[in-house]
Amino acid sequence: MDGNGRWAQSKGLPRTQGHRAGEHSLFEVVEACLEIGVEWLTVYAFSTENWRRPSDEVQFLLNFNEDILLRRRDELNDHGVRIRFVGRQDWRVPKRLIRQMHEATELTKNNRKMTFTIAFNYGGRAEIVDAVQRIVAAGIAAEKITETTITDHLYDPEMPEPDLIIRTSGEYRISNFLLWELAYSELVFTDTLWPEFQRQEFLAAIRDYQDRRRRFGGVDGRS
Ligand code: FPP
Repeated sequence: MDGNGRWAQSKGLPRTQGHRAGEHSLFEVVEACLEIGVEWLTVYAFSTENWRRPSDEVQFLLNFNEDILLRRRDELNDHGVRIRFVGRQDWRVPKRLIRQMHEATELTKNNRKMTFTIAFNYGGRAEIVDAVQRIVAAGIAAEKITETTITDHLYDPEMPEPDLIIRTSGEYRISNFLLWELAYSELVFTDTLWPEFQRQEFLAAIRDYQDRRRRFGGVDGRS
């Protein structure tokens, strides 16, 4: 969901107004997913690198995420959405926010229409480090470690590898998002800033994805 800050600055607004405007785009995408039957949607809401931002913006983002959870969780629940989180719940994340995350997860845990995963205080490298630590702590012998072992120790082992990753705002980078999981993901980049990313463009990205041929390292037409 990149480009909130630049969108706001281009309009002479404080960066935080860009994040506020980004909520609308986020729920356009959530609604479109529900309509067309996307079963897993993961958004990058706060990265392990975002702590480096000015403290007032960090504070805004922490409060804003909590606020969205409180305002939107019932509506998401009514639509059959299961809310989950990936990321480090370490000392930097306020306890109150962690409590709201648990409540939203608990409230929606039996829903299956769509799983909406919020990557919060998330970093792809941190996720791999955390997985390795858990594997070592579990006493798994080095020679027994396979790719499946790593996948099984990620933050949410049930989360399928993403079919499609969309990055907005004209940045052609992955920026530490789902590093292990994206090995065979299709990528769509758009210059649109997140607050201007609306339903039509999301559906266009899905159509673009549908036209791609995925070979997973193999050859077309063979398994
Ligand atoms: C990146 O834009 C966006 C963010 C760091 C935060 C986006 C978060 C939301 C829209 C709220 C999501 C909340 C929930 C609960 C799912 P940027 O600030 O990096 O933009 P820039 O690159 O133009 O500076």
